[in-house]
Amino acid sequence: MNSEQEILEKNVWEALKTCQEPELRKDIVSLKMIQNLSVKEGVVSFDYILTTPACPLKMEMEAEAMSAVRKVPGVVDVHIRMSHDVKKDPRLENVLPPGIKNIIAVGSGKGGVGKSTVSANLALALALEGASVGLLDADIYGPNQPQMMGVGNQSPEVGPDKKIIPLESFGVKLMSMGFLMDADAPVIWRGPMLHSAVVQFLKDVVWGDLDYLVIDLPPGTGDVQLSLCQSAPIVGAVLVTTPQSIALSDVRKAAAMFEKLKVPLLGVVENMGSFACPHCGKSSHIFSEGGARFVSEKYQIPILGNIPLDPAVCQAGESGRPVVTFEKSATAEAFRSLARQVAARVSVVSAKTKPIEIKIKAATADDKTKEAMI
Ligand SMILES: Nc1ncnc2c1ncn2[C@@H]1O[C@H](COP(=O)(O)OP(=O)(O)OP(=O)(O)O)[C@@H](O)[C@H]1O
Ligand SMILES: [Mg+2]
Repeated sequence: MNSEQEILEKNVWEALKTCQEPELRKDIVSLKMIQNLSVKEGVVSFDYILTTPACPLKMEMEAEAMSAVRKVPGVVDVHIRMSHDVKKDPRLENVLPPGIKNIIAVGSGKGGVGKSTVSANLALALALEGASVGLLDADIYGPNQPQMMGVGNQSPEVGPDKKIIPLESFGVKLMSMGFLMDADAPVIWRGPMLHSAVVQFLKDVVWGDLDYLVIDLPPGTGDVQLSLCQSAPIVGAVLVTTPQSIALSDVRKAAAMFEKLKVPLLGVVENMGSFACPHCGKSSHIFSEGGARFVSEKYQIPILGNIPLDPAVCQAGESGRPVVTFEKSATAEAFRSLARQVAARVSVVSAKTKPIEIKIKAATADDKTKEAMI
């Protein structure tokens, strides 16, 4: 490389250093987001590695880097290859199947507020953005993900190692108690059995490589939530609420539970707060406004999204094709935006999380002999 070229390359790196990752507030060079940079006859090309394919500021970040590099004297053209590498929650190292990078729980204190709807559409929206995603229906009393995801009449196969191979629907890997029981049979299980069923779903399902595993929790703050949070490090919880005050007081209970279990709160989703009139298109608030804002202020967490009350959501759930797959639907767009906000929060929480300290026992004479043999 001649010295002129070297100076140009150095100046390009300096220009890129002026660009910040907006959430982590650090420059993109120090964060190692720029890779494979090359400069040939004034043409600069590099990979820009985001922490999630669902980054809400992807276009702005690309434009900022493009403009910074273009300003460098001597640069003729710039080619940016946008790509992603979802970071693994450090606490998941050495725990559970190695391929799972982040576990997101979707919960609420109250039933019927839309947890399953949000979980299915969130998982699918993340997959549509290019992430590899799994969905675990942990509502063992009333599993309805198989129907919502359109695979209600199927059951998963068991591999030669006795591990369950999850079904795949719309590119999302899915496991649910619903696959293992008769659709109409009630589940009358005791606490310890529930615990083992949920933990088994995490450990004995061939999830493969997943950027995100979304867990649809049953309503309330009971056994399943406790056992899950104790068996698996959850990167964060998404709280779902409707604006009525009764749902809000329940979501506060759920928030308190997650806080106690040291599960970070990613934010709150307000579901069914507004209704867009199909005739005039005007959006009106059905219940009192500001409920999610109250939760957000009390727990210092962001509002991740507002999903309108939309009859299409209900129909989509029943027909097995989640609404986020619909084109030209404002509700689908609301779910896509929600997924980007969740992914961005996961990146931030994951970057701040410290690995669990694993005490390594002192090497024995036997270990040393083994080491010498390798
Ligand atoms: N935004 C929405 N617009 C219209 N209907 C919705 C919306 N969100 C959810 N629903 C409907 O409300 C009902 C309850 O939703 P869902 O099953 O997702 O709630 P849940 O919180 O998971 O319930 P449970 O506590 O029983 O698990 C479903 O019939 C669903 O289709
Ligand atoms: Mg549900």
